[in-house]
Amino acid sequence: MPSTKFEIEDPYQYATGLNSYHESESIAGALPKAQNLPQKHHLGLYPERISGTSFTAKRAVNKQTFMWRILPSAAQSAWNLIEGHPLNVNFHIDLTFLPDQLSWKPFAVESDCNFINGLRLIGGAGDPNVKNGVAYYSFSCGVDMEEKTAFYSADGDWLIVPQTGVLDIQTELGMMRVRPREICVVPRGIRFRVALPSGQTKGYVCETFSGHFDVPELGPIGSLGLANIRDFEIPSAAYTDADGVTELMVKMAGKVSRASLKGSAFNAVAWHGTYYPFKYDLSKFMPMGSTLYDHQDPSIYTVLTCPSDKPDHPAVDFIYVGPRWVIMEDTLHVPYFHRNTMSEFAAVISGGFDTTPMPEEMIGSCMLHNGMSTHGMSAPVIEDSMNRETKPERIPSDHVAVLFESCYPIGLTEWARKRGEPDIGGDETNDFGGYKRFFDASKV
Ligand SMILES: [Fe+2]
Repeated sequence: MPSTKFEIEDPYQYATGLNSYHESESIAGALPKAQNLPQKHHLGLYPERISGTSFTAKRAVNKQTFMWRILPSAAQSAWNLIEGHPLNVNFHIDLTFLPDQLSWKPFAVESDCNFINGLRLIGGAGDPNVKNGVAYYSFSCGVDMEEKTAFYSADGDWLIVPQTGVLDIQTELGMMRVRPREICVVPRGIRFRVALPSGQTKGYVCETFSGHFDVPELGPIGSLGLANIRDFEIPSAAYTDADGVTELMVKMAGKVSRASLKGSAFNAVAWHGTYYPFKYDLSKFMPMGSTLYDHQDPSIYTVLTCPSDKPDHPAVDFIYVGPRWVIMEDTLHVPYFHRNTMSEFAAVISGGFDTTPMPEEMIGSCMLHNGMSTHGMSAPVIEDSMNRETKPERIPSDHVAVLFESCYPIGLTEWARKRGEPDIGGDETNDFGGYKRFFDASKV
């Protein structure tokens, strides 16, 4: 079965179909019929709209959602900048761009943190002020965000990839349970809170300052394959009716501010529209590949893509390197050496990376191959792959890795630089990685 057997059930209800129009009401009749703005809602709810695109964006990409709330989001105090918040970053000043190939051992879980204060910026590029660029974070946490708190990013969509543990993500539009091998997207501006139903958790977050995550075009593949739109799950309306005050935090232009909100941030009783969070089980991905010789490009494993402001330069392609058959004849089966204009940030979720198993202590590790920095397999692996018989290989079902390919070179924070280790081991003492010469001019 192409779906994950999860240890923990998901108790929440979802609609299916990415990019479809959806509507949801947690009280029957709460969703006004035909009209968005009845003069006075019969349940006493306030109408409120959130837009994810300009109003005039093409219909195919236009993202707008109406909510009906117990109190409007405008029932809030003024904002106050939180000086010294760990997520406060000046992208042009605080990041260092290096050509080094770096890897990071699995980050330790900061068990006294919640999802937001357990976020660590690894690196990024661009500028959220002009909606252009990306940010990559590691998260680790052991406690729920406080009941009466909520967070949103005004800077971009958040693609959340848990590696261990379980996330219960309460959003304005409903609940999502996200487990390892699942991913979710919380779009720009949508408020959320994270609880941990099975204790501590860790993983990665990719934030994109431009556009929105979407499935890639399929071209000659046709209408089926890769991540099928029916497998994306969209939460159902679920509201919290609370008195008192909620602490609301926002990250805007790389700075975190705080405000007080009357009641709950999650008081939308009904909603309809095209702008919403969603989750996806990666094991439902339908991989395509070369069936006779040579490798196709890894873009064939793209689950989601987010455009930058330049045509044909994705801000991020989110790629799933998972189980499949490798069957090419008379072909080097392992990845070949390459230097790409796109930077590559990879993380191992379980088992191994592609055909290569990884020791337990490296599960959860990550690596960065920046734009135009060469990389490939080690000398023993490449030599073995050149000489062994090519026969069909099954990448084991537990080999799950993800890759963020970005048109931007990735600058690193000091936090990440201190923890990174060179991922390419060459110098004079080991003959620059020990790659042997096989070429012999005298035999040409
Ligand atoms: Fe690569």
